[in-house]
Amino acid sequence: TRKFFVGGNFKSNGTITQIRSIIEGLNKASLDPNVEVVISPPAIYLLLANEIASNGVQVAAQNVYDKGNGAYTGEISAAQLKDAGINWVIIGHSERRALLGESDKFVALKTKAALAGGLSVILCIGESLEEREAGTTIDVVTRQLKAVADEVSDWSNIVIAYEPVWAIGTGKVATTEQAQEVHAAIREWLKKTLSAEAAEKTRILYGGSVTDKNAKDLATQPDVDGFLVGGASLKPAFVDIINSTA
Ligand code: 13P
Repeated sequence: TRKFFVGGNFKSNGTITQIRSIIEGLNKASLDPNVEVVISPPAIYLLLANEIASNGVQVAAQNVYDKGNGAYTGEISAAQLKDAGINWVIIGHSERRALLGESDKFVALKTKAALAGGLSVILCIGESLEEREAGTTIDVVTRQLKAVADEVSDWSNIVIAYEPVWAIGTGKVATTEQAQEVHAAIREWLKKTLSAEAAEKTRILYGGSVTDKNAKDLATQPDVDGFLVGGASLKPAFVDIINSTA
């Protein structure tokens, strides 16, 4: 009963013309109505994207600040996203954790602020190659989740995206077994930490080198409830990923 969810994280890519053309493509496409679709363009294109997206396609910001409006140069508040009609935000992406030094705690505080502001959150977690090779994958993802659980008790507006760092933008997709193993562990953690209901209802997405070629296989796994797609979300084949369970 978990609605399949496919997110497109455009990262820092695109121009007005390209964003327009990607969205017009999605608007015209035949999208599986049983799939929730959320695209995430760079902040400067959020208003444009929200204005032109139709066909059930929703829009997410790639970041939000943990404070309200105020003297925070360069930041965007949850209230401002809401005001602009944006209802989703990606938080904790590994690129922001690595390149901008976002800590588990900061990610948790941003998640708290986003939810309090009425946004739904795509919460990204995942281990590095070194962590996987050291056998600490489950420790890392549960540590990242626990930081959020310390701040947030109601997870009904959170979608979890498991994105192993070594699979992001590398063409090295996790095997169906690797994805399922971690997804199942995350669901077990949700059950133990929050409730059986939260474990049952929370969608857990896989992200990292998802393409139209590997999506169908990954989607067969019982605990894979969708995808967070980077590079391939900028291409026409994104539609095939959206429709991978049809
Ligand atoms: P790629 O699909 O380009 O590997 O990126 C995944 C990702 O980071 C989505 O957030």
